[in-house]
Amino acid sequence: MTTAATSNRNPDCITGPLAEAAQIAADVVEQESRAEGTVPIDVAKALETLPISIPQQGVGEAEAIERLRRVVMATPTTSGTRFFNQLFAGRERIATIAEALTVVLNQSMYTYKVAGPQVLIEREVLERMLAKASMTGGDAMFTPGGSLSNLAAMIVARNEMIPGAKEQGIDGRKHTIYTSAESHYSIRKNAGMIGVGRENVRKVAIDAHGRMDPAALASMIKADRADNKAPMMIISTSGTTVMGAFDQIEPIAEIAQQEKIWLHVDGAFGGSALMHTKHRDLLAGLDRADSFTWDAHKMMGVPLICSVALTRKPGLFREHFDETASYLYQQDFEQDHAWLNPGTRSLQCGRRNDALKLWALWQSLGDDGFAQRIEKQHALARHAVGIIESNDQLKLSFDPAWVNVCFEVAGKSTEAICDRLNTLGTLKIGHGVVFGRRVIRLVTIDPQIDEPDIDRLFRDILAVAANIEAADNIVD
Ligand SMILES: Cc1ncc(COP(=O)(O)O)c(C=O)c1O
Repeated sequence: MTTAATSNRNPDCITGPLAEAAQIAADVVEQESRAEGTVPIDVAKALETLPISIPQQGVGEAEAIERLRRVVMATPTTSGTRFFNQLFAGRERIATIAEALTVVLNQSMYTYKVAGPQVLIEREVLERMLAKASMTGGDAMFTPGGSLSNLAAMIVARNEMIPGAKEQGIDGRKHTIYTSAESHYSIRKNAGMIGVGRENVRKVAIDAHGRMDPAALASMIKADRADNKAPMMIISTSGTTVMGAFDQIEPIAEIAQQEKIWLHVDGAFGGSALMHTKHRDLLAGLDRADSFTWDAHKMMGVPLICSVALTRKPGLFREHFDETASYLYQQDFEQDHAWLNPGTRSLQCGRRNDALKLWALWQSLGDDGFAQRIEKQHALARHAVGIIESNDQLKLSFDPAWVNVCFEVAGKSTEAICDRLNTLGTLKIGHGVVFGRRVIRLVTIDPQIDEPDIDRLFRDILAVAANIEAADNIVD
């Protein structure tokens, strides 16, 4: 209950707790910088020792803050020099500040009436991203993640490719979607959600670099047509999850055009290559794609979640996602200002503001600063490759095109090494399957780490591997 002392009209009501939050945050940062790492809490101990359960009677704000602190301090960090487990890591100061202010503002991004200039900020960011993607004038929206940006594009593709799908639905047994064997799992999952069906996603073979084989794609489409199927969509990946491979968009776009099939590019991970003149050629042909997914919460270091879906043709999101809601969209704008009510072209109704943190970071770094981030991420990856190539105990799985460095410790179980590193609290690093072998996946995503951190990572891996029984990493 709000008391007089904590009245919402008292500035201390917010700035006081924010100062306490800042203190807890400082403790988090101090903890993550400890040289020895942090042992993760196991489930049983977490349930036993942390104040997880919610009491019938409130404990009051002071005690709640103390409980908050204990849970926060027991939560794994994704920043610092010991987190290599995901396609995001690290912390960009200004983006974190903007995110904190977003929470204080607590906007919902559906109308100009509620969000005011935040709508203009969002539009500025989206227009810049459209321009980078060679889709100027197209449609764009923020979504709750790359999986859902892919979903938005798949819904639009379905509706555009299958007349009547939006209003009457479809019989999913006829339509097919094509994507590489290395593509993200959200594609099959989304196919199940849009009525096409998971079984109708065709996994196209990859080449030695992990890229979709265009010839295999063409023959799969041909075979499906002969089998009375209706090929609907191709999803090319720019930056695959495990290998960091970039499908060659040009030849795939050629096939899409000839076959009159929708082409989506999933650049959730690798879309940020557009921010670097040297690397943007990895997405050559994107100007021929119909839609595009791009996550700024991966390579660009913006706090989760910050993902956009873009389309080349204007107005598509409004066309496919708008629905009347007279209780909400009350401020009428002329047709060419309809974007001032972004809720009318969103997957969501209530929607958090994911643009401000990206805008703030972009203000601070400019295009050049993002390019420098990518430069450093690549330099760290090359440093890691150098270490692997100069050590007989380490085996590089392939020559990386992006910042995914996959390797094995010769004769030692990848899985056991990663598990042991985690349980000891040394560091977090994940594994994946590459050409039938389970490999360690190092992603040098955080430009705030340095070469000595990578050196230490390999020392830690080799030290742990020395105490692990011999094993092969072949996956059946
Ligand atoms: C290629 C690719 N697409 C989509 C996604 C999904 O992104 P999100 O985790 O933001 O939903 C990922 C996540 O790793 C990815 O690697």
